[in-house]
Amino acid sequence: MTTYLMTGCAGFIGSNMVLYMLKKYTDIRIVNLDALTYAGNMENLKEAADDDRHIFVHGNICDRPLVSRLLAEYDPDVVINFAAESHVDRSIADPMIFVNTNVCGTVNLLQCCKEAWYDPEQRSWKKGRKYLQVSTDEVYGALGAEGFFTEKSPTDPHSPYSSSKASADHFVKAFHDTYGMPVNITRCSNNYGRFQFVEKLIPLMIFNAKNHRPLPVYGDGMQIRDWLYVEDHCKAIDMVASGGRSGEIYNIGGHNERTNIFIVKTVIDQLSRRLGDPEINEGLIRHVEDRPGHDRRYGIDPGKIKADLGWYPETTFEVGIVKTIDWYLGNPEWTEHVTSGAYQQYYAEMYGNRKEI
Ligand code: NAD
Ligand code: DAU
Repeated sequence: MTTYLMTGCAGFIGSNMVLYMLKKYTDIRIVNLDALTYAGNMENLKEAADDDRHIFVHGNICDRPLVSRLLAEYDPDVVINFAAESHVDRSIADPMIFVNTNVCGTVNLLQCCKEAWYDPEQRSWKKGRKYLQVSTDEVYGALGAEGFFTEKSPTDPHSPYSSSKASADHFVKAFHDTYGMPVNITRCSNNYGRFQFVEKLIPLMIFNAKNHRPLPVYGDGMQIRDWLYVEDHCKAIDMVASGGRSGEIYNIGGHNERTNIFIVKTVIDQLSRRLGDPEINEGLIRHVEDRPGHDRRYGIDPGKIKADLGWYPETTFEVGIVKTIDWYLGNPEWTEHVTSGAYQQYYAEMYGNRKEI
């Protein structure tokens, strides 16, 4: 049996990962450590509620005694760190929590794993253990019109979020280079799919358009993101966890670059057709003040993970976006729950004073 300690798995990607792994493997145990911040949602894990292979622990990755206890009690083969503050706009408003969770939390996990797995007398690591850091293409900064990020591209982050993720990546590398810790880092492009919180581009546009609310497009909307269906990301992380060479970074992306305005117009088109609602149209689009430090283009070269591990994306954007829209339309109560209360205040603060351009 393989035991995983996975952190942040009440969030978007982590919850998809738990369900993906429970479906794919029988002989598995997943300890899921999540602080249940605004982005953590136990409703995402409803399908796993009666599955005793999934053990949920409510707690913080910065909590050293707790993490040490979990490592001692469950002796996981693999630790996968999804837990993070993940939203660029929030990082611009309040960077400190990003340092605490993304940097200090990661270092705490590394330190606890080292204490659990390293024998200083023998100078050896417990066999078969691995720490996997789920990172992002944003650590590479922005591309011009040409070229792609490879694993050798320098880190050049621009937002407090991407700076905190790059910093965490450097600590992971340091634990490998200094202590010989078995690690991998994955750097994925923009994910989309079910359970994504309604402050990120695609679910926000679905939610607003469905309710005939304005669709806030930052600047000219010509920024480019490289979109990957979330299950393809889960598949890649599983492959790196089991087959990735220690110390290596793997970029994950499916060559699926789209401008933001294309994404918004696609959501409008699909939603209006699915709901037969002519009021969902491009008249809802509002170009608003740009995100400060906004990266113009991301584009991943996934050549290494394809060549080394045989990974490839299975879901095209055309199929993935329809599945995603259908999931949000089919689960209105999920959206209702996450958009009540604190979300309203978030939305007013983030968009209330944003001037139209
Ligand atoms: P998310 O914001 O949806 O979920 C984050 C989860 O982490 C939540 O469940 C939250 O409760 C938990 N969490 C936050 N702080 C914590 C703490 N201190 N201790 C324990 N748990 C804590 O994020 P996501 O979009 O699912 O992203 C998951 C990971 O993947 C992040 O590390 C992110 O940087 C990375 N990533 C995301 C994308 C993307 O497009 N969403 C792309 C590439 C990489
Ligand atoms: O590239 C991977 C990253 O993708 C992850 O590391 C992050 O955790 C994840 O949040 C995502 O970051 P982005 O900043 O790219 O995602 P977001 O959905 O916030 O924005 C996508 C693009 O859409 C970006 O160019 C900003 C723009 N945008 C976003 C919002 C919320 C708008 O134009 N209007 C909006 O209201």
